[in-house]
Amino acid sequence: MTDLSKMRQEYGERSLDISDMAPDWVTQLHGWLAYARENEVDEPNAMVVSTVNARSEPSLRTVLLKYLDPSGLVFFTNYRSRKGRDIEANANVSALFGWYSLHRQVIVAGRAEKIPPAESNDYFRTRPYGAQLGAHASQQSQVIAGREELLHQRDAAAQKYRDDIPRPAHWGGIRIVPSSVEFWQGRADRLHDRIRYRLDGNAWRLERLAP
Ligand SMILES: Cc1cc2nc3c(=O)[nH]c(=O)nc-3n(C[C@H](O)[C@H](O)[C@H](O)COP(=O)(O)O)c2cc1C
Repeated sequence: MTDLSKMRQEYGERSLDISDMAPDWVTQLHGWLAYARENEVDEPNAMVVSTVNARSEPSLRTVLLKYLDPSGLVFFTNYRSRKGRDIEANANVSALFGWYSLHRQVIVAGRAEKIPPAESNDYFRTRPYGAQLGAHASQQSQVIAGREELLHQRDAAAQKYRDDIPRPAHWGGIRIVPSSVEFWQGRADRLHDRIRYRLDGNAWRLERLAP
């Protein structure tokens, strides 16, 4: 058995100070995403999104960040999935990028909202044919009898739509509109750097948190 209690790495080659931070969270996050990509982090735009359902039960899953601008972080999903239903009941969400090879983590907290249908259409059109069919085939998060059922639905969608596949109305983008974005950089002796952008009324504040 692996002794997890002895698994420990020292961090330290990078640091973070309020004076290093971009004037806004979105520029800072773009910079860190670009750095993660340059440094060959696998799936640098993958983020773990947490939601809370109507019974206050939390759940998590990984999704891919597809658009990032001052209005928020957009990912695409099935609106009838577990996460989709959770968000209908409770818009409060959190998202985490874990770039462990860089000893970096970013945590976003905010509210989720559906993006306008026209924007979801635009993105859906850019998806590969197979992924477009997949959006029709999968009743995401539902129990299914077997993989055959999925393949059958996929073939049925291919028969129905041929080459011009419309976006399913239940599939589209979700924007996380942040109220805080924390950048974490691992440092020596567990004295890590944590700098957070936090929305205070209409103004964004930058503050350092104890590690
Ligand atoms: C690297 C990675 C990327 C993923 N990207 C997405 C995504 O962009 N959208 C999505 O709906 N599911 C994505 N998934 C699958 C989700 O993690 C999850 O299984 C699915 O969305 C159902 O989640 P739910 O039942 O909590 O709603 C991804 C999984 C992984 C591991």
